[in-house]
Amino acid sequence: MPDSPIATLENVTFGYADRPPLFKALSFALRPHEQIGLYGPNGSGKTTLLRLIMGLETPQSGKVLFHGLPTDNAQSLHRLRCGIGFVLQNSDDQLFSPTVLEDVAFGPLNLGLARHAARERAMETLESMGLEKFADRVTHRLSGGEKKMVSIASVLSMRPEALLLDEPTAFLDDDSRKRITDMLQEQNIARIVVSHDRSFLEQTACSCVCIKDGCMHRWSP
Ligand SMILES: Nc1ncnc2c1ncn2[C@@H]1O[C@H](COP(=O)(O)OP(=O)(O)OP(=O)(O)O)[C@@H](O)[C@H]1O
Ligand SMILES: [Mg+2]
Repeated sequence: MPDSPIATLENVTFGYADRPPLFKALSFALRPHEQIGLYGPNGSGKTTLLRLIMGLETPQSGKVLFHGLPTDNAQSLHRLRCGIGFVLQNSDDQLFSPTVLEDVAFGPLNLGLARHAARERAMETLESMGLEKFADRVTHRLSGGEKKMVSIASVLSMRPEALLLDEPTAFLDDDSRKRITDMLQEQNIARIVVSHDRSFLEQTACSCVCIKDGCMHRWSP
């Protein structure tokens, strides 16, 4: 079914240990080519929602599905994480290799590409984002904005069918913000973009939802 969801949350109830539930029977779907902006106050659960989709948190009840199938074992989680790229809120949690090229090649290596093919894929991705001059740089010595661009490259190098981006423009200057906006506008793949920046959401999402008090509703930036 061409329009069937890539990722689905079905009646998901979730709360962190010793905390009241964040979501009660929440349902949500990301379909192919859908580009959803996700807005909401600090602490409303935006990052948690992305973590639930990625199988990094487990709901107390309800289902998380990838292409209609449960994501409750190692094999299905591996498929999910090959198909959906997650750009974390904090780039230092995403990047861990000594150099930029190795960080961007890590995903393709994990997909099973041979070492030289993974490096080629990484270089191609860096070039497509105008980042080739960073290839040999030490990742942890990059600026915050440079790290964010490399984080996005490290996810795009896996050629995912969907992207989850958690506040990709936080702390970026106007030029970096524009580069990310342009890059997203060129990528016609399904995505959820979390941001507090209304004009960025307007430019990079086709529809927006707001999450507040555990509920989601359609929202216009
Ligand atoms: N590991 C955790 N253990 C306990 N509580 C947590 C944990 N992670 C997040 N929370 C709490 O869950 C709520 C939702 O957090 P989350 O990070 O999903 O919010 P957010 O909408 O992404 O916020 P922000 O806009 O600040 O990034 C917050 O109240 C937060 O304090
Ligand atoms: Mg967050």
